[in-house]
Amino acid sequence: MAVAQHRTTLQEYITSEWRANGLNRGLDAVIMAIAEGSRRVQLQVQQAALADALGATGETNVQGEIVQRLDAASSEIFVETLTGSGHVAAIGCEEIEDPVIIDADAADGYIVLMDPLDGSSNIDVAVSIGSIFGIWRKDPGEVVTDESLLRPGNQQVAAAYVVYGSSTVLVLATEDSVCGFTLDPETGTFAVTHPNIRIPDDCPYYSTNEGNNKVLDEATRKAIGLLRDQYSQRYVGSLVADFHRNLLKGGIFAYPADLNRKEGRLRLMYEANPLGYVAEQAGGAASTGYGRIMDVVPEKLHQRTPLILGNKDVVEATVSVINGG
Ligand code: AHG
Ligand code: MN
Ligand code: MN
Repeated sequence: MAVAQHRTTLQEYITSEWRANGLNRGLDAVIMAIAEGSRRVQLQVQQAALADALGATGETNVQGEIVQRLDAASSEIFVETLTGSGHVAAIGCEEIEDPVIIDADAADGYIVLMDPLDGSSNIDVAVSIGSIFGIWRKDPGEVVTDESLLRPGNQQVAAAYVVYGSSTVLVLATEDSVCGFTLDPETGTFAVTHPNIRIPDDCPYYSTNEGNNKVLDEATRKAIGLLRDQYSQRYVGSLVADFHRNLLKGGIFAYPADLNRKEGRLRLMYEANPLGYVAEQAGGAASTGYGRIMDVVPEKLHQRTPLILGNKDVVEATVSVINGG
């Protein structure tokens, strides 16, 4: 019988890759907290109706959106595991109106911005959903306040997302690389399955909500039309799932500004910035349609942004057409 190949676990990957340079002191504990939280969220995702985890809580969040039970449960789980890491100074969360200050002057402390459950409209219909994390390092000696969370995406030191799909995959981007890990449901540990992810030069797919076409301005409608003429449409309605496919197979995701949503629909701090970081570290690009996502200086924790994300050449071509090129 073939001996099962030993795969490097997430813990081993971090210890071997990061302890070496010592730069990321404490970051390993934050990443392991994200992994443990996603293990717990995945259990609820799998049990779903059996664990009474579906449906709405009856509340609406700061976004004005109906809060699903899994939105609230995943938010609580990640706040708990991140707090337990001992290296999180503060958390900004889509489901929590104000910043959560954990340990304002934590040594080797990090600031984590998260969308604990992305793709909420898909929870009840068993379609892939995810979690998204942007990670900033607090300055040594800094005592973190609410304003500390309003750092541009270009100051992130790492970003991660998890896709709860046919398998549960955690993708981690740091200044060195982008690496994917798959959860072994039997052991509850993540192991390396997608080392050194680079977005392919080929671009077979475009992901956009075609239902918005009627409310796009003329230049943007032309840009989406050019994508439609060249690529196959794939749109799950969960940003993380659409992005993960495009990252591995090549593609572009576009949720541009429209006449009803001039600021865009997606959130800058815990959707666009983290995935923009992952995209750029993998050789891709992330634009608001008018400039680099990660250069936006944030003004509000929950501010929205248009998002054009994925294959660099196609993002640049799309942005050019949106601006009349
Ligand atoms: P969330 O569930 O965190 O609110 O995010 C949902 C987002 C994103 O995942 C997805 O791409 C987008 O909403 C879908 O928006 P439309 O339903 O307008 O297409
Ligand atoms: Mn989301
Ligand atoms: Mn969400």
